[in-house]
Amino acid sequence: MANVTAMSFPAGPPAPSLPVSSPPASRLPPPPRLTTLAAGGGCACKIPPGELEEIVAGLAGRSGDSLLVGLEHGDDAAVVRIDGGRAVVATADFFTPVVDDPYDWGRIAAANAMSDVYAVGGEPLLAVNLLGWPRGTLDPGMARDVLRGGADACAEAGCHLAGGHSIDDPEPKYGLAVTGIADPGRLLRLESGCPGLPLTLTKPLGVGVLNNRHKATGERFEEAVASMSALNRDASRAALVSGATCATDVTGFGLLGHLWKLVRASGCGAVVEAAAVPYLAGARECLAAGYVPGGSRRNLDWVGPHVDAAVAADELLLLADAQTSGGLLVAGEVPGHPVVGELVAGPPVISVR
Ligand code: CO
Ligand code: CO
Repeated sequence: MANVTAMSFPAGPPAPSLPVSSPPASRLPPPPRLTTLAAGGGCACKIPPGELEEIVAGLAGRSGDSLLVGLEHGDDAAVVRIDGGRAVVATADFFTPVVDDPYDWGRIAAANAMSDVYAVGGEPLLAVNLLGWPRGTLDPGMARDVLRGGADACAEAGCHLAGGHSIDDPEPKYGLAVTGIADPGRLLRLESGCPGLPLTLTKPLGVGVLNNRHKATGERFEEAVASMSALNRDASRAALVSGATCATDVTGFGLLGHLWKLVRASGCGAVVEAAAVPYLAGARECLAAGYVPGGSRRNLDWVGPHVDAAVAADELLLLADAQTSGGLLVAGEVPGHPVVGELVAGPPVISVR
């Protein structure tokens, strides 16, 4: 990787300027739209779930005495106990542009990275930037806007943002490595679901198809941007207050993919009431017009053998839609958010009706 230059950011917020040089503005063609530089977008560019599980199979990271959440169920973040009443939460998340606006992309990527801390019941404490930037193609000012968006999301979360790492990369990428803190006695895990618990979803679905249309046409979907930028902090705190012990966040594997991981880890089944699942405005129209990310189809291929569906194939595709910075899926009721199904006794099968 001879043409990759690594550089370290100086520590401390606000987001630092990048030591990147570019030709004079007059000689530059108009900058390409950010989303056109990415093969996949947002969490839809995740490695497909089945493939990822093959890659990490047999690797270390089993949970034990002090490693409270390890690798075995593919939880959202790793959690290690540091003393009786405190645990450290660690996660990293980055992806290619989901929207053309660099500031919005930065906010979304940062909210998404911190979401994995909220998904295990923690609070983000400290984050560092991860940035891949095509320095020959894009203006450094645009990179600054991305970092500014990330810094604003961290400020909203009360999470320090200090430094990070950047590389010269033909495909732009941005995200955070986040360290959080949690109460080891009050974690949200994939494996602690029980039959009889309702399933609550805290953000509507549909950002996968809406982002796919945005990438193809440039149309902006404000509601989708607002949803992706929103922190899962309040939902996580409300889930803990209501006594929940099992949750995950719905991202690239879609509602069905993340629910499948949850029921498989918990050793039970689930019922999803398709009509109770909320969608962003325009999601169904995008699907009907054929704007479906490849990731959503791969999700459905992966989870399909474990789904018993009494709904149309299109409905399943929406339920498997690859989300970016989606909401929490909680086993339990969370006031103010819709119940979309329940956990049931039996093998890990998802019945959609
Ligand atoms: Co997650
Ligand atoms: Co994640």
